[in-house]
Amino acid sequence: MVAAVEERLAHFFVTRREYIAPLGPVVIDAARALENFVLRGGKRTRPAFAWTGWLGAGHSADDPEADAVLTACAALELVQAAALIHDDIIDSSRTRRGFPTVHVDYETRHRDGQWAGDSAHYGASIATLIGDLALAWADDMTRDAGLDPAALHRFGPVWAAMRTEVLGGQMLDIHGEAGGDESVEAALQINRFKTAAYTIERPLHLGAALADADPELIAAYREFGTDIGIAFQLRDDLLGVFGDPAVTGKPSGDDLREGKRTVLIAEALRRADLSDPPAAALIRSSLGTDVTPDEVTELRRILTDLGAVDAVEERIAGLTDQALAALDASTATADAKRQLRAMALAATARSY
Ligand code: IPE
Ligand code: IPE
Ligand code: MG
Ligand code: MG
Repeated sequence: MVAAVEERLAHFFVTRREYIAPLGPVVIDAARALENFVLRGGKRTRPAFAWTGWLGAGHSADDPEADAVLTACAALELVQAAALIHDDIIDSSRTRRGFPTVHVDYETRHRDGQWAGDSAHYGASIATLIGDLALAWADDMTRDAGLDPAALHRFGPVWAAMRTEVLGGQMLDIHGEAGGDESVEAALQINRFKTAAYTIERPLHLGAALADADPELIAAYREFGTDIGIAFQLRDDLLGVFGDPAVTGKPSGDDLREGKRTVLIAEALRRADLSDPPAAALIRSSLGTDVTPDEVTELRRILTDLGAVDAVEERIAGLTDQALAALDASTATADAKRQLRAMALAATARSY
């Protein structure tokens, strides 16, 4: 499935060449940077959930429409590219999927070429546009996937909801860092929209919509997808502080330096406010500053000692159980249930 998704994406980039060629080398290069970003890494989680959602509604890879469905599922990787390229600008992240982020790549090109103006601003500007290109191309790829008009009509509103949710969720995330609501509930709400919706809930819903599934299966998929999607972001938040960069492809400690208002931090602050005010003060004064590796180590110890890490682990386990119960009770095919269970466990496992 991963290979088939990548083959679709590679083919799609070939089809864009006729649009890009007249714009000349700068834009050809930017399109190549996007292509490299999309093709050289990523777990392909979103297409996998969409495809499995479609199969789980009673379809088979041998069905005549399977080809078009797979292409539409693959387009989710372009939404993911847009989300990640922009997210890395927003979060000032310098590494993604084990490589320099797109804005850093362009910042370096600018600096090495001794071009006019500010290198960092140039990098962020080009990367913003490359992310926009990815989002626009995601739409093009679904429209040209070869879906029949009725399927495309069912697909459209779910796709629209998904795009709005991820962009809105990112706004909530940024606003949270700006000192909004410190509560666990607010952090969970952010996770739901910035991650769960576009990672699992809506991909499954898209698969179900393409399959013209009944409302009960759609409801069960969405329930499962929301819970596993939130659990997936909770795992990502733990990895953002405790993860091994060699495994995650992202630096560890970035979330602390960026001051991200994760459930982990909300949980730690709630506990520290009750039991350890100096620890609460230290967390608040460190978040969003350029913490050193030693300070990161100290913050890790504090978060652990406060019981915040265990609390997040328990929440992941609880959400996973709840999600699997919804899946078991659904009318998805036995094969898809097995598959989705394995995917849920992989998405929320301690390391990946
Ligand atoms: C990263 O998503 C962004 C989040 C929503 C946490 P993934 O962990 O699915 O990233 P890739 O696509 O596999 O690189
Ligand atoms: C994840 O953002 C959500 C999106 C990219 C839309 P994060 O900032 O939490 O994810 P990572 O940790 O950078 O992958
Ligand atoms: Mg972010
Ligand atoms: Mg980020």
